[in-house]
Amino acid sequence: MTPPDTAVLPPLPHWEQAPADIPAAVTQVKAALRARIAASGRTVEDVFAVVERQVMAEVGEIVAVRDRGEEVWPVIDYADIETGSVPAEAQALLRRRGCLVVRGHFDRDHAVGWDRGIVDYVESNHFFEHYRGPGDDFFASVRSKPEIYPVYWSPAQMQARQHDRMARVQAFLNRQWKHESDGVQWFDPARNLLYPDRIRRRPPGTDSAGLGTHLDPGTLDLWMTHGYQKAFRHVFDGTIEQYDPWDPAYRTTALQYPGTTMCSAFRTFQGWTAMSDMPHHQGVLHTVPVSGAMAYLLLRPLLADVPADDMCGVTISRAFPAVDKWHHLLLQALSGIPDVHAGDSVWWHCDMIHSVAPVANQQGWGNVMYIPAAPWCPRNEQYAPSVREAFLTGSSPGDFPAEHYERTWPNRFGFPDLNETGRRGLGFD
Ligand SMILES: [Fe+2]
Repeated sequence: MTPPDTAVLPPLPHWEQAPADIPAAVTQVKAALRARIAASGRTVEDVFAVVERQVMAEVGEIVAVRDRGEEVWPVIDYADIETGSVPAEAQALLRRRGCLVVRGHFDRDHAVGWDRGIVDYVESNHFFEHYRGPGDDFFASVRSKPEIYPVYWSPAQMQARQHDRMARVQAFLNRQWKHESDGVQWFDPARNLLYPDRIRRRPPGTDSAGLGTHLDPGTLDLWMTHGYQKAFRHVFDGTIEQYDPWDPAYRTTALQYPGTTMCSAFRTFQGWTAMSDMPHHQGVLHTVPVSGAMAYLLLRPLLADVPADDMCGVTISRAFPAVDKWHHLLLQALSGIPDVHAGDSVWWHCDMIHSVAPVANQQGWGNVMYIPAAPWCPRNEQYAPSVREAFLTGSSPGDFPAEHYERTWPNRFGFPDLNETGRRGLGFD
């Protein structure tokens, strides 16, 4: 087949700010996307069928692996990352599944010490007496003690973020992406934005409903802003075979619609570091480990069975839902992490569907620090000044509710405690 001349395809309408009339804009952009794909000489149904075949093959393989009682999630030893000796097959599996457990990322004692350090930090500042309840509804909980601590600047978190071992794993993960394409360097894989996020400490005995299947890269902006339309150009112009989930072209400058669940940073991988042992059946993270699934998610609303003004339930300011009604095929591959130990870290591609399983009467603690891989790029550089300001004043970072518990806490991590990685990650150097 001759590739279409994409320059002559009908242009797409785009909204650089969230549209006021969402149903009208969804209707308009879906019609335009269908028309653009049709002008390439293929139908939406043809293009979707290509994606569906690929996804079906991956899902079939994942289900077979699971049925054989084998691990679906790739696991790589930190030692192999440090010495640059990750086996080729392990790297290939990481790129296919799009997720990873790093074993022994930190020494177990080191991670357990950080966990204790966080307890000391919050207790010495009487956090539990002053806690006012969840500042957002995303992780809302009726417990008086939070599971998600809105704490960003403890010595433990900062030491983990600026640790050599963290920088090395982040660089390894960033390098799974292309970072250079179309003659542009989209990001610097060797340097990461220090992205402050919260911690979770879920105590033994917890009953939790978990978190439903969703993804975090964006919402309607993924179809509607000019930057994302370019980032997903191969999905939208009939050249689906060239779509590459590891190509960041145009993403690191694309505009996003603000919302309570928005992440200002471009993350190659979302991730967390375990500060306690977590057996695989104790309400842990699951993903749909199919790295090319985003093409399916973007094309699915264009099929005829979805109402004209509906993006399969995606809307602004709510996490992008993955639901059985529209994404049944993908959700069959939903796979939990294996048992993890304090000091292991867990990573998943930023476009990946994930969830947290429910748990009743949890055995042991479930404690993690959220630390992503967010390489230095225009978008992340733009967020950095507000992170620096929040760091210097002990404030909650801009992506999170304005709770500001730590402003008066004397023992938070200070400027003199930064090493070179920390200074570069905050943009001080
Ligand atoms: Fe999420």
